[in-house]
Amino acid sequence: MRITGTGHASMRIDTAAGSILCDPWVNPAYFGSWFPFPDNSLLDWETLGDVDYLYVSHLHRDHFDAEHLKHFISKKATVLLPEYPTSQLEDELRELGFTSFFKTKSDEVHELDGGLKIMIQALISPTDGPIGDSSLWVEHDGVRMLNQNDARPTDLTRFNELGHVHAHMLQFSGAIWYPMVYELPDAAKTAFGKQKRDRQFDRTWRYIDDLKADHVFPIAGPPCFLDDSLWKFNDIFGDEGNIFPDQSVFISEYAKVGGTNGVVLLPGSVSELSESSISTTHPTDVDEFFANKQAHLEEMRERKAPVIAAEKASWRHPEIDVLGAMKKRIEPLLEESIYMAQGVGGPVRFDLTDSFGPDGNVVESIVVDFPGKQVRPYADEKVRYRFKTGRALIEHLIHIDEGDWVNSLFLSCRFSAARIGQYNEYVYAFFKCLSEERLQYAEGWYDEHEKAVEAEDTVLGDWTVQRRCPHLKADLSRFGIVDGNVLTCQLHGWKFDLPSGRCLTSVGHKIRAEKTEKA
Ligand code: FES
Repeated sequence: MRITGTGHASMRIDTAAGSILCDPWVNPAYFGSWFPFPDNSLLDWETLGDVDYLYVSHLHRDHFDAEHLKHFISKKATVLLPEYPTSQLEDELRELGFTSFFKTKSDEVHELDGGLKIMIQALISPTDGPIGDSSLWVEHDGVRMLNQNDARPTDLTRFNELGHVHAHMLQFSGAIWYPMVYELPDAAKTAFGKQKRDRQFDRTWRYIDDLKADHVFPIAGPPCFLDDSLWKFNDIFGDEGNIFPDQSVFISEYAKVGGTNGVVLLPGSVSELSESSISTTHPTDVDEFFANKQAHLEEMRERKAPVIAAEKASWRHPEIDVLGAMKKRIEPLLEESIYMAQGVGGPVRFDLTDSFGPDGNVVESIVVDFPGKQVRPYADEKVRYRFKTGRALIEHLIHIDEGDWVNSLFLSCRFSAARIGQYNEYVYAFFKCLSEERLQYAEGWYDEHEKAVEAEDTVLGDWTVQRRCPHLKADLSRFGIVDGNVLTCQLHGWKFDLPSGRCLTSVGHKIRAEKTEKA
């Protein structure tokens, strides 16, 4: 089996029974904010795109690059489709010209021509990707690999059942706006960023330990930020609170926990993998490349400046009535929302500026009033969350009829945020569900999730607690750690106060816990 690195979470897998291209991403994503790092735009995409199969793990724009798929990937390729509750991924691929689809069943092994075996595990909670994220397992001629990409299954049991895995590709770096966009003192931001960075690595070690593959490939990040206003997010300033460590940092952190089987793929690197060996060649010296990271980014920044300028020009439209358009789109959804509206539990304010981000003058303030089920002008009230961003960006979202503001505005990091109280997952879940189909799906999921009675318990230290995490059902007998009266679920780092059952990380999500009686 040959694995060719094609940047970020993308790779091409070649076997004697056919080739699979995964998540090809080249064009900037999320309002021109994220670029692939290292740069992969100079690869021979005509050749790379001439494949038998295409796998797009999910619709996040750093995995689904419509422009690139349209122009460079063979339409003869058969799409290996994850089993998602909505047809959006298939619909969007059809629109780009793909006509051949192999619809997989989640967690089921499928045998393709020539004995190529694949399995796609689809995760479908409202917090998984843009409602859906997935991993691809491949086996050919006794060699097995798991491209976990940035999916976060509660554990890797299903893959372990299929036999020893030789290559494990997984995410290790950040892919979110927290804590950078929050309006916090610098010291707090650094402390939260450091916690987040440590937690990302802990989660990665746990997955690696779970699968115990022969070789571990750090993929799916970090992106790089080339626009002047976002340049500060690149991990080149020695900031321990930066959540975007790169592959070379992964290798050194991995070594600290005893990991010696890490393989870094640059765009154009090739690993030849067998049951007992691996050999990897690179287009340039890897250590030298990372030692010169800043120069690489600066060169990219200059080369991509026209791309960013063209993106920005595309956000300018004749003025749109933002309040009227938000009312029209959001009020009917607020009316139908039970779980998410209750979960948010307060007004969310959008301060809109005259720039393309949080800087500049606020020209309009709009409130999405979840309890009142209304979108209206801000009325000098206390709000649960406040977002500050460019009015032009919201106008653009309205103009392109965007139904997922997480997969566009929030991931762009072109905003600032403040909140009263804890993190509230429902705020972001709601703003990724600005369509009838998505809203109904998410509400239904929460309904089932809330009603699921988690009868099973597990014992952790002196405590008997419900076995499944109230967040996304991780098995706490594996992911739970108790320190005094606080339980931490290591999957996403949520904390719970055991005597009261209160979730210390987010609103709601109470845990059932009792001190175990000592005999
Ligand atoms: S499943 Fe997310 S913190 Fe437990």
